[in-house]
Amino acid sequence: MMEPYFKIPHDPTMAHRISEAMQKSVQEDWEEYWGWRALKLDTESVIEGDLFLEWLHARHPFKAGILAMQPWSFYTWHTDGRRGVSVNMLVDPRSGTHHSMFALPRDKSHSTGRFIELIYEPNTFYLFDNQIEHAVYNFEGHRFMFSLEFDEDKSALDFYTLKSEVSQPWLCLNSAGGGTNED
Ligand SMILES: [Fe+2]
Repeated sequence: MMEPYFKIPHDPTMAHRISEAMQKSVQEDWEEYWGWRALKLDTESVIEGDLFLEWLHARHPFKAGILAMQPWSFYTWHTDGRRGVSVNMLVDPRSGTHHSMFALPRDKSHSTGRFIELIYEPNTFYLFDNQIEHAVYNFEGHRFMFSLEFDEDKSALDFYTLKSEVSQPWLCLNSAGGGTNED
């Protein structure tokens, strides 16, 4: 099986902006969303000046938010009803204990199966295939995930399409900024 996620390296300013937005929020800003607590962000202002997210938003409009998981909670094995693909960044992945897993193809008449783990690195976006069975277990501490929800649903945008779009132009943008594209 091809990996159902794709890593997009990023600079740390986005993580800082996300933390700031969280700190400014008050309890009433957090609403119930598919069993999570979610904080809707002002998408345009959060992504302003971020080359990758601005580029992505122009091609595939999305809303940005933060999803919170309580300590000692889980999101059981599922595929998403609406989302084909999302873009995630785990806020402060080194705090707490949490595991995000994708199931390998399995016979669903059995309760058993095998999985791989997505280990989130700091300041890093991941394309996430929401149509592969996945689960999250969060142990001590709250777990905060910055996540994009595309206006296009799973019938209009899937993981493999976005992965191929993101691979080429984004690498070009990145190397243009870094000035090392002559190497
Ligand atoms: Fe999901």
